[in-house]
Amino acid sequence: MRGIRIIGTGMYVPDTVASNDWLSTILDTNDEWIYSRTGIRERRISTDKPNFYMAEQASLAAVKNSGIDPSEIDLVLAATCSPDFFYPALSCLVQHTVGAVNAAAFDINSACTGFINALDTASRFLEDSDYRNILIVASERLAPHCDYTDRSASILFGDGAGAAVVTKNNKPMWSYLNAKGDYFNALYCKVDQSRSNCPLLKEDTVPEGLIDSEAKTHTLQMNGKAVYKFAVDAMQTAVTKVLEKSGLTKEDIDLYIPHQANARIIESAVKGLGLPEEKVYVNLEKRGNTSSACIPTCLAELGEAGRLKDGMKICLVGFGAGLTSGAIVFEQ
Ligand code: COA
Repeated sequence: MRGIRIIGTGMYVPDTVASNDWLSTILDTNDEWIYSRTGIRERRISTDKPNFYMAEQASLAAVKNSGIDPSEIDLVLAATCSPDFFYPALSCLVQHTVGAVNAAAFDINSACTGFINALDTASRFLEDSDYRNILIVASERLAPHCDYTDRSASILFGDGAGAAVVTKNNKPMWSYLNAKGDYFNALYCKVDQSRSNCPLLKEDTVPEGLIDSEAKTHTLQMNGKAVYKFAVDAMQTAVTKVLEKSGLTKEDIDLYIPHQANARIIESAVKGLGLPEEKVYVNLEKRGNTSSACIPTCLAELGEAGRLKDGMKICLVGFGAGLTSGAIVFEQ
């Protein structure tokens, strides 16, 4: 597939820090439990700014860093599972704010695998001569979806956004994408349809037994153990498959950026794959799981630190609600 080169990265995280100690004031939990089970010490929460604000800030930074004029962007792809609007797409708000006046725009929702799916999509668009520069942004405001009486899920998630401007590269890229829809009810957030005043509508249209009938709408529901097991397997499978496609060995890769869900998931997968730990980038201690925004915020931190070098072989791997998973290998 068409190689990509990242020419600019950007990120935005809200100012408000929600530490494990703070969570312990509202939940029956403590820093020791959370840190030892997840590797997370704190996460950011967007108390007063919408998701699109975070997406815009990350995108403006990425476009500025890329050095291109916004009018040279041909497509804006936004990955999110926590939009402010059902429609229009988040990408349309971003397209307007960054001034990408010549760009098409659409969203991708594959939850935490969103950035991987968006990057794969970008590569396929870049095959076409009409598309030269693509802005990809992944942004999540998950705090409004979390139930802060549920101590097993609310401790994991944080808010934030990451963005990258990508352009064509003649160097290679490979991707492996997967979905296991039979696990859809391991992690979901159900829309509240009871607000309609149409007298013909029945209150609940989801067949009995499909999801927990007591589940609160607009609230993240997770079977932590099922997701954990899936995640460790899915990460290993995705990395193995993408390396097989590429003909590269795990040692050929300079940098691995996994989805930042839980340090124990990352450690188990890294151990199972036999990857060199020093090549695996992890930032979840201070960010928590920001869903699709995890991988691009890692890229932005690495970009900021001057650690994204030309010629580097980078492997991104993610998983999330769906259940979806995927991995990409590209040479920067
Ligand atoms: N603080 C203190 N105790 C907690 C707690 C918390 N925040 N959350 C759960 N517990 C308790 C449980 O109530 C249970 O108590 P019990 O034994 O008295 O019933 C005990 O700790 C063990 O719970 P369990 O669910 O077995 O913990 P776990 O080791 O599986 O860890 C998760 C729970 C959610 C951290 C873990 O399953 C996980 O990380 N799953 C993957 C989730 C994920 O990554 N989701 C996003 C995917 S993109």
